[in-house]
Amino acid sequence: MKIVRTCSELRALTSAWRQDGLRIGFVPTMGALHAGHLSLIDISRQQAARTIASLFVNPAQFAPNEDFAAYPRDESRDMAMFAQAGVDLVYAPPVEQIYPQGHAASITIGGISEILEGEIRPQFFSGVASIVTILFNQVQPDLAVFGEKDYQQLCVIRKLVRDLHMPIEIIGGETIRETCGLAMSSRNKYLTDCERRQAPALYRTLCEIARGVRTGENPDQLCELAANTLSETGFGKLDYVTVRDAVTLRPHAEPGRPARVLAATWLGKARLIDNVAV
Ligand code: PAF
Repeated sequence: MKIVRTCSELRALTSAWRQDGLRIGFVPTMGALHAGHLSLIDISRQQAARTIASLFVNPAQFAPNEDFAAYPRDESRDMAMFAQAGVDLVYAPPVEQIYPQGHAASITIGGISEILEGEIRPQFFSGVASIVTILFNQVQPDLAVFGEKDYQQLCVIRKLVRDLHMPIEIIGGETIRETCGLAMSSRNKYLTDCERRQAPALYRTLCEIARGVRTGENPDQLCELAANTLSETGFGKLDYVTVRDAVTLRPHAEPGRPARVLAATWLGKARLIDNVAV
């Protein structure tokens, strides 16, 4: 496995692969790898002849009051996991390779990035859309894989690629869960042992809403009940629990269109987000 830190080294290697007609898959990460990331790498390896992963904790997607400084970082562990998973090349740039001095460009996607997570974390999706665009321009992959765990992020990236005519196939990888149902996330490290035992209630509650919607119950009432259940189970502030159109993330109105149940809530120091298909 090659590890490169500069865009010029990256381009030298990838242009040789491209000249050989090899399809390039890309898995962007912020490190703190877990089985969820490994499953995205697996998808890329099945679909592409070469897989590139990036390792970059992107300051632009954290608000000043968020956990940029505390975000878990362990590069040697991550590199060992990338190698074990069969990644061909890791791009782990220092911040100047991404945001050189004087950098002032940013990408804003209207609509879909202004609701749900976008209301609670106003700079998040512009930070994500900007870093993903920069990485796509540097890596120039044929396909890129993102987890459904961050479902709205996946929808925003699909819209980014469509609206900016980027010739990149976006593949969603299904959420990987602990046996208790808790969605794997780098931020689960913030949970205490006691909170880890409470946390699976989030997934159970989302599954109950999805079951109710499938059998024709009222989504708003189901979400209201779910909010009470979560609060009784010991969860803190609930940012949202809602049933949305699976593509536009607008309130789910048209019967027959695919729907998704999404929630974000606090448990101790961890902000948990999760979603399930209806
Ligand atoms: O999902 C993540 O880990 C990040 O948001 C991403 C896509 C790597 C961009 O920094």
